Amino acid sequence: MLKAMVVGGGAREHTLVWKLLKSSRISEVCVAPGNAGTAQVAQNLDIAPTDLDALSRAAKESKVDLVVIGPEAPLAAGIVDVLQSLDIPAFGPTKEAALIESSKVFAKKLMHTYGIPCARDAVFTSLNEAQDYVRRQQPPLVVKADGLAAGKGAIVAQSTGEALKALSDIMEQRIFGDAGNQVLIEEYLVGQETSIIAFTDGKTVVPMAPARDYKRAFDGDLGPNTGGMGAYSPPHFFDQSLSDTVTRTILEPTVKAMAQEGKPYKGILYAGLMLTSEGPKVLEFNARFGDPETQVQLPLLKSDLVEVMLAVIDSTLDQVKIEWSEEACVGVVMASGGYPGSYKTGYPVTGLDEVAPDIVVFHAGTKAEDGVMLTAGGRVLTVTATGATVGEARERVYENITAIHFKDYHYRKDIAADGA
Ligand code: AMP
Ligand code: GLY
Repeated sequence: MLKAMVVGGGAREHTLVWKLLKSSRISEVCVAPGNAGTAQVAQNLDIAPTDLDALSRAAKESKVDLVVIGPEAPLAAGIVDVLQSLDIPAFGPTKEAALIESSKVFAKKLMHTYGIPCARDAVFTSLNEAQDYVRRQQPPLVVKADGLAAGKGAIVAQSTGEALKALSDIMEQRIFGDAGNQVLIEEYLVGQETSIIAFTDGKTVVPMAPARDYKRAFDGDLGPNTGGMGAYSPPHFFDQSLSDTVTRTILEPTVKAMAQEGKPYKGILYAGLMLTSEGPKVLEFNARFGDPETQVQLPLLKSDLVEVMLAVIDSTLDQVKIEWSEEACVGVVMASGGYPGSYKTGYPVTGLDEVAPDIVVFHAGTKAEDGVMLTAGGRVLTVTATGATVGEARERVYENITAIHFKDYHYRKDIAADGA
């Protein structure tokens, strides 16, 4: 039997813990730092996801057989390299391979070199040169900081003025710090936005069940961008032929390119895409599972996640059959009042034991204090249901979510409405 460690503390990581515990190969799971939900099923460790020394020490001392990394920051910091040097199997790309997410300039150069479809762009380190370039282009333009910026590093500028302001914010005001040492200015792509998330062992690429996420805070895709307010799987517009096209024209060439660059890529490859009139083009890559996509994808995975992850690490993914349920899954995020702006925490969460047995609630910003469950973050819970159709799953979620309460909560009422 194996012992697993999950790094991270959101609903994505709670879902990973939940799915790992369903494996017949797993005896126990620890999670760093986890949340009040993971504490009910696993051992929480009070270690920050970016404290590589403490994480690797804990993994070694507890004789962990598999470490699964949720967020991008530890991957970009090189956690997989550190664990590999200690002979601890780790699921995720190395620091060099994670550059595909942690440096947008690296990712774009790779795509241009290997003919992977993406937006045209120019790269600048000088503010003056970037400003001159912007004045010569026709807006809209997209201005992007090179490095990690918590998903906020891309600014869509509708006018030249907005693009100049974005440059000043990133390069002069340095709102993203060193992540803005280089900027990319991209052509604006038009089309339907979607993403594809795949397992890869550096040779074989196997896409997960497709999912759609909702980034805006309010119904009708209004309001500010968030970390994600809900998701569902499968979206009707993502059929097998689109999945095959993206795998053939984007995912497989990218994995091959990384190998040729001496940065073999293993783990999850997440491609954010624009479906343009010229075909799918890459907006960005992520080196990790999606949040909240994971919360609706893993409940549909019929195969043993541990077998899949070990095959990724051993480069034997071609020998594993990954099976997905024919059902649908819908997940709705309950957030603190004010999120994604400022919000208060410490409110009791009630009603979790009143939802039906088929409803799975994944925790994010929760903590337990003296036996009371309290809110502890912006996104608090993802409430999920699986059903025969998207419509059925959606109905189950919304029937049950009303049982759960905490002060000032908000959630979107239209998650999966377009898929039902
Ligand atoms: P990114 O962090 O690169 O995925 O960008 C964040 C968001 O900005 C995307 O989800 C898109 O909505 C938008 N975006 C990024 N790049 C482009 C582009 N070249 N054209 C149009 N929209 C874009
Ligand atoms: N749901 C978007 C992301 O995980 O990046």
